[in-house]
This record gives sequence, C-alpha cells and structure tokens, in this order.
Amino acid sequence: MLKDKNIIVGITGGIAAYKTASLVRLFVKAGANVQVIMTPNAREFITPVTLSTLSGKPVISEFFTANTGQWNSHVDLGLWADAMVIAPATASTIAKMANGVADNMLVTTYLSAKAPVFVAPAMDLDMFKHPTTKRNLELLRSYGNHIIEPAAGELASHLIGKGRMEEPEKIFEVLDRFFEKGQDLAGKRVMITAGPTYEKIDPVRFIGNFSSGKMGFALAEECAARGAEITLIAGPVALNTSSPAIHRIDVMSAQQMHDAAISEFATSDVAILCAAVADYTVENALDHKIKREKDEIPVIRLKKNPDIAKAIGEIKKPGQVTIGFALETDNEVENAKGKCQRKNLDFIVLNSLQNKDAGFQVDTNVITIITSDGKALEYPCKPKTEVAKDIVDVLVKDYII
Ligand code: C5P
Repeated sequence: MLKDKNIIVGITGGIAAYKTASLVRLFVKAGANVQVIMTPNAREFITPVTLSTLSGKPVISEFFTANTGQWNSHVDLGLWADAMVIAPATASTIAKMANGVADNMLVTTYLSAKAPVFVAPAMDLDMFKHPTTKRNLELLRSYGNHIIEPAAGELASHLIGKGRMEEPEKIFEVLDRFFEKGQDLAGKRVMITAGPTYEKIDPVRFIGNFSSGKMGFALAEECAARGAEITLIAGPVALNTSSPAIHRIDVMSAQQMHDAAISEFATSDVAILCAAVADYTVENALDHKIKREKDEIPVIRLKKNPDIAKAIGEIKKPGQVTIGFALETDNEVENAKGKCQRKNLDFIVLNSLQNKDAGFQVDTNVITIITSDGKALEYPCKPKTEVAKDIVDVLVKDYII
C-alpha cells in the first residue's frame, strides 16, 4: 500500500530514535520515498548518516545550509508528503506541535503539511502521565492527527510503565492499513446521533444526562476521514468538528432529534445511533419559571419520548445499515442482544458502566460489539478515537457492500 507514497519521517531527541532506522528501512522496502527530518537533539541519539543511507536522501535538519545561501523549503516538503510520521515524538516536540512553536525544521514542516500526520510518542512514564502531555496529545487529536499510543514496559530509565515508543513494525502497519483502508466509505452517507438530549421543565431547567458526545463525534470524524459524507445530529454538547465533510444539525430535545433523524435517514446509507436520548420528556413543562413556593413541592409528570432507533429500524430499507449503542448496568450482553433485535439493528455497541475508563465524559471506552446473529466481539480499553476506528472497521468489513 505504501508503494510510491512520499513519507516524511520526523525524528526527535529521544532514545527510541535508534529504532526509527528500522522504520525507515521498512518504508523504503515497501517502495515508499522517505525524507527524514531530524531535530538538532535527535542527532545526538542517531547519526544522520545512518538515516540518509537507509532513505537514499540527505537528512534535513536545519533551515539553512551554512554559507551557501541554500535553504530547505518546509512548504515544498509539506506539499510533497502523502504522510508525515513523527517517531519518536518527545514531550517537547508534541508541545511545540500542539501550540505551533515552529522553531525547528520539523515543527515548521508539520505546520505546512496537508497530509495525514502520525505521532508516536516516546518518553518516561511520568512525563507521559503529566497533564500537560495529556492535554497536548488531546490537542493533536483534535487537529485530526493520529496518535500511535506508546506501549507499556521497561523504559530506558529502567522504570516500568507506559511511554515506550511503539515498535517500528507496528508503526509501519498503522500507515499501511491507513492507506489500504483509505477511502473505504467513499460515496456513503452516514447519519450519526450524538450527545445527550435536554427535556425542558421550564425556561431555565431541564432533565438531561451525563453524555458528552465524544464517542459520536469521534465516529463522525472517523467516517469522514474514510470518505463518507456525514450528517451529525448533535444534542447540547461542548464539542467542535474539524472535517468539512461533517454537516452538523444541533438539536435540544429527543423529539427534535427524532424529527431530524427521520428526515435525514431517508437519504442515508448508514445510521449510527450513538446519542443518549432521554427516555421521558416533561408532560407539564411550563413556559414561565417555576417559583419556589412555600410548602408546595412541584410535581413533574413525565411522558414517553419516541425511540429514534426503533423508529428508524421500522423504516429501514434493504441495503441501509443501522448501528445502536447500549449502556447497561446488569445482564449486559443479554439485554444488548434483545435491544439489537427489537430495534432491527445490524449491530449494537455495548459500553460497560462497570469500567471506570468507559462510558460518560471520559476519553476512553471499553466496548463489546454484538451482531444481530449473536456474535460478541470484545475490545480492550482504548481512546474513543481508536474505538471509533474499531466500530467503523466492523461496519466496512461485514456490512458495507
Ligand atoms: O433502549 P435503550 O435506550 O437502552 O437503547 C439504546 C440505543 O437506542 C442507543 O443506540 C440510543 O441512541 C437509541 N435510542 C434512541 N431513542 C431513544 C432511546 C434510545 O435512538 N429514545
């Protein structure tokens, strides 16, 4: 898949830099054209001669070639690249990338690059855990960069923990798969519901839930990256989208989400029903603020909201694929299977509330995919952006013709 692809390999000053020689070798063997850019500190860890020999091109490290009047154009490099991989990416380079500090050739080229960017962090476990590193990686994710999570194990410091750069073979595989999958949703229209719904009690109060919308937004970005046109029907969330292929419709209540979903589904190939829709709405909602009267406790009467997934299951035509989510606290798998059938879903994604790294608000999730024929595929805890890839992989592999 990487034959004739132009790949920039960025190397920063971490001990894992020695492994990047193997990564360059793997890319070259696969037929890719590799341009290595090293930060000044990276040259302390591995010699540029090794990398220029392996890549067949002089390594770039400085903006200018001393006393020659020649300079390296980050803009040309940015346009040349089909992909950029930064491995190892130190905490410092990640921080510079996150904040646009273009004080070396590598970060300057990163800012100019239009191609997909892959970042393989490598650092000591405490640096990796530091809130600033976490925040910076989150920023890179929000720019659409792909983070290749470091592995856990013994680090160069002899401490044991997470922070070891992923092995070159794995990094190679991530890129190979990326180009293989490429645009496997090209021409498909995907409708996604995301976030909570708010049911008004009066003009200032509502009944809502803890859904952040992160899972649905990650799915929207993943489907867009793979070539689909997305309609994202979002409840009240504090999130932005970055892909121009995402058309967003903001709604408040379950009824509004239902109406938008029913109308959009008619022209969709796939519906992913990820929203945490309120099951009930307020029957006796008021158009003025409820006052705190002495001794009088207001009674909120509820009535059922429409079940969007079920309604969509009823109007689904052959060829349309629908995916639901389930969040259960007990009898998880059995309940999810029942839901999959009742709502005429092709598969359902079960989130467990029994795991503290899964479910509402957090950036990670632990899922089990349950198909309509009862198969259960279990996945480990991953960032929601990675979980989105797993879900879309199943969709593409088993359901998209
Ligand atoms: O029945 P339950 O709420 O557990 O089912 C969850 C699935 O159904 C999710 O995919 C959710 O988005 C969808 N749902 C819906 N409309 C509702 C309630 C749930 O689309 N009113």
